[in-house]
Amino acid sequence: MFSRKKKIKKKSKVLTEDEEIVKKANDQNNPLGHLVAFHSFSRNGLDVALKCCKASQLDKITIDQLFELLKKNMKQMYEESAWGWNEKDKFFEMTENSAWYLIASTKEGKTIAFSHFRFDMDYGLPVLYCYELQLELECRHKGLGRFMLQVLELMAFSANLRKVVLTVFVHNLNAVGFFKSHGYVVDETSPASTLEEQFDYEILSKSNKRISKS
Ligand SMILES: CC(C)(COP(=O)(O)OP(=O)(O)OC[C@H]1O[C@@H](n2cnc3c(N)ncnc32)[C@H](O)[C@@H]1OP(=O)(O)O)[C@@H](O)C(=O)NCCC(=O)NCCS
Repeated sequence: MFSRKKKIKKKSKVLTEDEEIVKKANDQNNPLGHLVAFHSFSRNGLDVALKCCKASQLDKITIDQLFELLKKNMKQMYEESAWGWNEKDKFFEMTENSAWYLIASTKEGKTIAFSHFRFDMDYGLPVLYCYELQLELECRHKGLGRFMLQVLELMAFSANLRKVVLTVFVHNLNAVGFFKSHGYVVDETSPASTLEEQFDYEILSKSNKRISKS
């Protein structure tokens, strides 16, 4: 006697058009692949190669290097904020499956800068969320930060995402100045400080001008 197997169909969630955009962006093998002119940066004494990959494709040594750079640059700023510095949480966030990396390394293989970013839905919109943009001290003010930010924008806008979003501490004056000088404005989702409640961070964004719907 043949028993008929019950057909158990997993109900697959129907994605909205915007969620499809995010999925397509995340399904890419290498979002930097088609941006050939942005695979290297040679200016002002820097000569680096850029690569883009998922956190899961990074080896332990590289992840540790990225974490140490983040800690060196940001630990104090976190400690000065209401969030405080939580090493375990930060490391977890940096190694989550949804994390993407843009990494700049010298010919000798030393990592000198990175961005941790994600293709994600944010308040109902498909965005590239830049979690980190971190450069070694000696590599700053040479145009590399601007170059990497441009790469993030190109990856976002060529994947039809609506904007690049990032969170910055208001006391990180250098970073706030840097992002604002590159057209970033306070995002509508940024919390507004009042007399009763002060926020020590703000959310900045740059919209994809090619997409007209608001
Ligand atoms: C913020 C950071 C990424 C900027 O990168 P960078 O490579 O130093 O910046 P660039 O050299 O690419 O700057 C290019 C241009 O941006 C503008 N700019 C840079 N910093 C600026 C600032 N503080 N205020 C106004 N404009 C600024 C200038 O026009 C500059 O061109 P110029 O040097 O010819 O004047 C880098 O300083 C860094 O890693 N800081 C520590 C980590 C950090 O705070 N990251 C941000 C966390 S959200």
